[in-house]
Amino acid sequence: MATLLDRRKPIETILAQCGDEGHGLKRSMGVWGLTALGVGAIIGTGIFVLTGKAAATSAGPAIVLSFVLAGIVSALAALCYAELASSVPISGSAYTYVYATLGEFLAWIVGWGLILEYALGAATVAIGWSGYFSDFLAATFGIVIPKALTTNPFDGGTLNVPAALIILFITALLIRGTQESNTVNKTIVAIKLCVVLFFIVIGAGHINPANWHPFAPFGLQGIINAAALVFFAYIGFDAVSTSAEEVRNPARDLPRGILASLAICTVLYIAVSAVLTGIVPYAELNVSSPVSFSLIHIGLAWAGAIVALGAIAGLTTVLLVLLYGQSRVFYAMSRDGLLPALFSKVHPTFRTPYLSSLIIGLVVAAVAATSRLTVVANLVNIGTLVAFALVSFGIVVLRVREPNLKRGFRVPGSPVVPILSGIAALGLMLWGLPLLTIASYFIWLAIGLVIYFTYSRRRSAQR
Ligand code: ALA
Repeated sequence: MATLLDRRKPIETILAQCGDEGHGLKRSMGVWGLTALGVGAIIGTGIFVLTGKAAATSAGPAIVLSFVLAGIVSALAALCYAELASSVPISGSAYTYVYATLGEFLAWIVGWGLILEYALGAATVAIGWSGYFSDFLAATFGIVIPKALTTNPFDGGTLNVPAALIILFITALLIRGTQESNTVNKTIVAIKLCVVLFFIVIGAGHINPANWHPFAPFGLQGIINAAALVFFAYIGFDAVSTSAEEVRNPARDLPRGILASLAICTVLYIAVSAVLTGIVPYAELNVSSPVSFSLIHIGLAWAGAIVALGAIAGLTTVLLVLLYGQSRVFYAMSRDGLLPALFSKVHPTFRTPYLSSLIIGLVVAAVAATSRLTVVANLVNIGTLVAFALVSFGIVVLRVREPNLKRGFRVPGSPVVPILSGIAALGLMLWGLPLLTIASYFIWLAIGLVIYFTYSRRRSAQR
């Protein structure tokens, strides 16, 4: 066991790789690009779809409190990510940080869990995208895609075709290159923010306070279950740190990008969930496009169409960042020898890890076409919460092991705050997620451990 935890990747090696040579990734991003990347990744299926499901089935109008709770867990973790991103600024996110602090074995567990967060996260968002897209076509143009082609086999359909197609489209965009996808991302993020604000302003005028009673029909446990589901809405700020090697001044800009994007989204979420449950009785919100549905419900079909269009565009940027994040995590793991070399092969012209993106795109498209929304969302959440916990504890370890490391940002109140952060992530996971999700996670983990001990550990660059 001791040797398992001892195989760490020295910080010097990590920082040396960060300076990267000619064939590495392009450094083109600043703090605005990062914040846009963060907001682009964060606001998505969580607020646009899962809010309705969680309010209808778990929390009722108290979904607002679920957002506060999940926001606190995320904010604590964001502080820890900000410190690590400012001191170990290299792509790979939580995986790299844990490699430097808690060792290769736990880093593998995080990297393996990040597949749930990014790849499965992308599948989840694609399912949400498909719901808005189909509802929009039906409500605006009267074009009805047959249910069999928009629904997974577990819910009585055949394949969710729009979900698979959007993944393949984004994959093509990512293979073309970071700069292009960045420009598209910034534009769409602006549209998404406008649409969310538009919903809050228009909806606020139609709130019927009677809809907020009873406030917490399913009690405290319902609020916590909903928090564990809508936690999905906060995922993505950490994707900012996966782009460390493409940032001009990572030690300064990464913490700023992470904290700014999370703060913006938290405020918006609380407002959106309050307005949503204020204009429609919570029990009616279990639909595939609740935010636009609520506007149609109060007779504002035109506003519903605008919001749906914005949501479709906004969900697209989430996909962009999650798929981008996944390929960069694989890039880092492959460069460390834990995954085959093809995952870090960079295209000679586009300078992107194209093979990795292609493989990820095909697999994620297949999952998106065949999976149920809440099942995959919960799996994404558990993978992310485990990563959050390990990153948080990693802060404490790194402070002891590398006291003199240059840190662009320091978590205030260490070690109390990072330890609290780790406990909060584990608490939300154990208290809020379904038992089946926890069991499925352990099966996923077992598969990962077999791969680690039969392949990765033997080929590691640190062996
Ligand atoms: N936070 C992202 C979303 O809600 C993953 O879609």
